[in-house]
Amino acid sequence: MTLAEKIGQLTMITLGDQPTGPIADPVTIAEVHAGRVGSVLNLAGPERIAQVQALARATRLGIPLVFGLDVVHGYRTVFPVPIAEAGAFDPTLWRETARVAAAEARRQGIHLTFAPMLDIARDPRWGRIVEGPGEDPWLAARFAAAKVTGFQGADLAAPDALAATAKHFVAYGAAVAGRDYAGAEVSATSLAEVYLPPFRAAVEAGVAAVMPAFSDIDGVPMTAHAALIAGRLRRVWGFDGVVISDWDAIGQLVAHGVAADLAEAAALALRAGVDIDMVSAAYRRGLPEALDRGLVEPEAIDAAVLRVLALKERLGLFEAEPVAPAGPPPAAEAAGRRALARHAAERSTVLLHDRSSLLPVGSPRRIAVIGPFARAAGGGSDRIGPWAGLGDPDQASSLPAALRARFPDAEIVSRVGVDAHRPGRRDIAGAVAAARQADLVLLCLGEPADWSGEAASRAEPGLPGDQPALAEAIFALERPTVLILTGGRPLIASAVIDRAGTALMAWFGGTEIAPALAGILAGDVPAGGRLPVSWPRSIGQIPIFFAERPSGRPFAPDNPFTSHYLDQPNAPHFPFGHGGTPGAFALSDLAVAPVTVGPAEEIAIAVTVASTAARAEDAVVFVFIQALKALPNRPVLELRAVERVALAPGETRRATLRLPAAALDRLGDGAVPEPGRYAIRVGLDADRSRHLVAAVTLETR
Ligand code: GLC
Repeated sequence: MTLAEKIGQLTMITLGDQPTGPIADPVTIAEVHAGRVGSVLNLAGPERIAQVQALARATRLGIPLVFGLDVVHGYRTVFPVPIAEAGAFDPTLWRETARVAAAEARRQGIHLTFAPMLDIARDPRWGRIVEGPGEDPWLAARFAAAKVTGFQGADLAAPDALAATAKHFVAYGAAVAGRDYAGAEVSATSLAEVYLPPFRAAVEAGVAAVMPAFSDIDGVPMTAHAALIAGRLRRVWGFDGVVISDWDAIGQLVAHGVAADLAEAAALALRAGVDIDMVSAAYRRGLPEALDRGLVEPEAIDAAVLRVLALKERLGLFEAEPVAPAGPPPAAEAAGRRALARHAAERSTVLLHDRSSLLPVGSPRRIAVIGPFARAAGGGSDRIGPWAGLGDPDQASSLPAALRARFPDAEIVSRVGVDAHRPGRRDIAGAVAAARQADLVLLCLGEPADWSGEAASRAEPGLPGDQPALAEAIFALERPTVLILTGGRPLIASAVIDRAGTALMAWFGGTEIAPALAGILAGDVPAGGRLPVSWPRSIGQIPIFFAERPSGRPFAPDNPFTSHYLDQPNAPHFPFGHGGTPGAFALSDLAVAPVTVGPAEEIAIAVTVASTAARAEDAVVFVFIQALKALPNRPVLELRAVERVALAPGETRRATLRLPAAALDRLGDGAVPEPGRYAIRVGLDADRSRHLVAAVTLETR
């Protein structure tokens, strides 16, 4: 291979209709033809992919291209956004939706997805909280393993497999002030115990690729972070897959202030272990000079090329025939995918409260669907959310249409009332008139899809525009009102949420969210989701998460010199794990055995779970641990197990979870058993005041 051909294998260009970043250096098809491109992102459509692939196969070496796309929560069939699906606490579901997305995408010529996104996020100002599995590293690690397995399957060359990319390595979600692309100041302990574990889980699940974050940690941009990429990821964890930079991230090392020019930027990234340069052309334009200036060794280029070629080999691309355009799936298969999307939406939707006991809604004669997210038709992008692949927003049926199907005898009226983006264009009077005579009002508020995801940080992550004014006007009617929130983050809207008779968080629930909501309102199914993040009461509480470290002055209501606010409670509006039919479940009779355990033994945790729900509904039981003494100290709660317990109406069941004693260890590399006393805390959410608690002692035997 010539140097140009080698660097070509390390160069990814975009040829898509929807670039996902600023195109700094539009590279022509000629580059492909000259064998100076190794992979392409954002190109869609099997015919176009086959056309470009044929160009690559006609070059001197005929090395095939990898085609990548952000298949994050679906390709054509769109599932709930990851923060929503994480709240299903259901690894089987996580795997299944990834597998369906992989099958749809691979059959259309895509080989690699830039997913799962595994960034722990504890700051809803950060728009990308929508793309990840929430605030907890233990949950995120399980989400990582399920998604990698679902996307990749057992054989990357299979016709329904996608190479997965764990992103964005690492601590991207710790961006200062929740502002996207800002740096992160992360302690070594938090890096080890919070941000790295989900990526380790992805590597252990066999993830094919890793993408470094745009951001830096303590001044070292991740794209140039040799200690974490070449060191921790490759040498310590043994990752031998491909590292793909984020969009233009190598070129941006100059703006980061760590490289004087593209040659230095290219050298830093290559030495750090980054194999593929996404879009910046820094490798194409900088590596030859870097070689001449002795900034990199030829062997480093060869090693990167070999990893890229090994991925192409694993994908079976050298033997692959051009992808024949796959027509629409058989009707039964398409129906199965929509059924899965509906199940995912039902299991991800969270009932925030039902203070007026409006659910199930019975048989209302007139339903008013009010608000900017109640669009009568089209405009479905607010249902499928950001990073929705090639999902067709208009395939997502509207809520009024779904209600007509589920409540055929009801009159359904719909008014947008206000604009979802900004104050001004409003027809609150028209919305009030439509709602005034309704037996039931569905108030559909939230944040629009283009205000969520990348480059969508919000200093005030509430209800944009005149939505609060619309809510106030509707509440004044004192009609039975169910608030249905759309969005990709916990929305700071306490007054509106508390004023509603009932409140649901539908997230960006995907293609089938509208029928799922109709079924939840009718009582056909429960809202099966639980919150995978703490829901702040106010912006002032951010960052807020259950795994905080102990204080020397923990809050005590009768002692002002303890950790608290003068103007707000410490507790979130809704805790991590919140959801389900209020008051429907009770836990009792916690038994933990043995009470003294050695590092290689197992702890049996038994608890009685009782349901008073009027229909079949899962209780979601959380098992936390608390190390009562450790140095450095350990968070007041660490999640270590979650169990969905299916219960018939009125059923009581004894559930037993088995926890290896190793679960008492810290998360993170090199964790060793730390003998001592631990609390086992079992609850329906992270509110410590409601936990059943038992003690165990870990001994070194
Ligand atoms: C974007 C995102 C990344 C995505 C990539 C390709 O800037 O940061 O998550 O995979 O570019 O679209």
